[in-house]
Amino acid sequence: QTSLKSAYQKDFLIGTALGTSHIEERNETANLLIKREFNAITPENIMKSEVIHPEINRYNFDPADKFVEYGQKNNMYIVGHTLVWHSQLPRFVSKINSPDSVRLFMTEHIKTVAGRYAGKINSWDVVNEALNEDGTLRKSVFLNKLGEGYIKEAFELAAKADPKAALYYNDYNIEQPAKRKGAIDIIKKLQASGTKIDGVGIQGHWSINTLNLKVIEDAIVEFSQLGIKVAFTELDLTVLPNPWDLRGADVNQNFEGSPKMNPYTAGLPDSVQVTLAQKYEDLFKLFLKHKDKISRVTFWGVNDGHSWLNGFPIRGRTNYPLLFDREFKPKLAYKSVLELK
Ligand code: XIL
Repeated sequence: QTSLKSAYQKDFLIGTALGTSHIEERNETANLLIKREFNAITPENIMKSEVIHPEINRYNFDPADKFVEYGQKNNMYIVGHTLVWHSQLPRFVSKINSPDSVRLFMTEHIKTVAGRYAGKINSWDVVNEALNEDGTLRKSVFLNKLGEGYIKEAFELAAKADPKAALYYNDYNIEQPAKRKGAIDIIKKLQASGTKIDGVGIQGHWSINTLNLKVIEDAIVEFSQLGIKVAFTELDLTVLPNPWDLRGADVNQNFEGSPKMNPYTAGLPDSVQVTLAQKYEDLFKLFLKHKDKISRVTFWGVNDGHSWLNGFPIRGRTNYPLLFDREFKPKLAYKSVLELK
């Protein structure tokens, strides 16, 4: 096999998240790799409302236009991320008070953004992260002002603005039973009201220490029984401990500089490199077993140096969650994923 996208061509799309530096082709090595390995792209930040819609009457389409052009030029499947999300909202939204104004913002935003790229975007993450861990709906400006019906409104607006795009509900930890139940509820309600929903995006921000294949498999099966596709939309496997892995640790505590939280500054030890490869192999074996249900597997970043996990949830860490290292060389995990085919 010569690349991820060719190895998995008959199974599902293989994607990556891209930032401005990639679409501007500022790094030749990175761009050669992107074009060789991936056939789907998601904008890591440039279609989020704070970037694309910075002021009430001003849109910043330039980066998103370039992102879409990049995808078209390279024959890639283009994902829009994301239309309705409580995070990375423009500042003016926090000053909106009345439900009518929130509705106007959401309506105009979806019409304008999804409308602009209609026919060019293959799938939209219409609503992102609407759920709490216990499966209840997360408090947000949308839920608070519009009630739970905002999800249906958002999907209807997206379907109207871009009738061809596949529409997804996207969230993290929705493989976990309680939160999964909440996601199933959202999907069933949309379906019962005749609202278009084509798939569910399981983000897949996981850890080599806690990866639970059984739970993921149950989620794939259960979601696809609803008659929708399952995509893994933001895959990465952290090799570092997270605050919430420590019993009783305060997530907001300042762990910056803590050797316990940042143990591999000098490089990834061989043993952990092997574990990472093993975990990715197990995961892709599972994906292949259910390939008829899976539309796409997208990594959240091109290579380790680019990953957001170097800065989340603790700033300044060195992480190694992806298939390519800081020199854009394939890691052992890349080989294990490729050699499954
Ligand atoms: C992250 C980006 O990777 C970071 O660059 C940014 O600072 C914060 O957002 N869930 C999502 C993604 O849906 O949009 C987030 O991306 C990661 C978690």
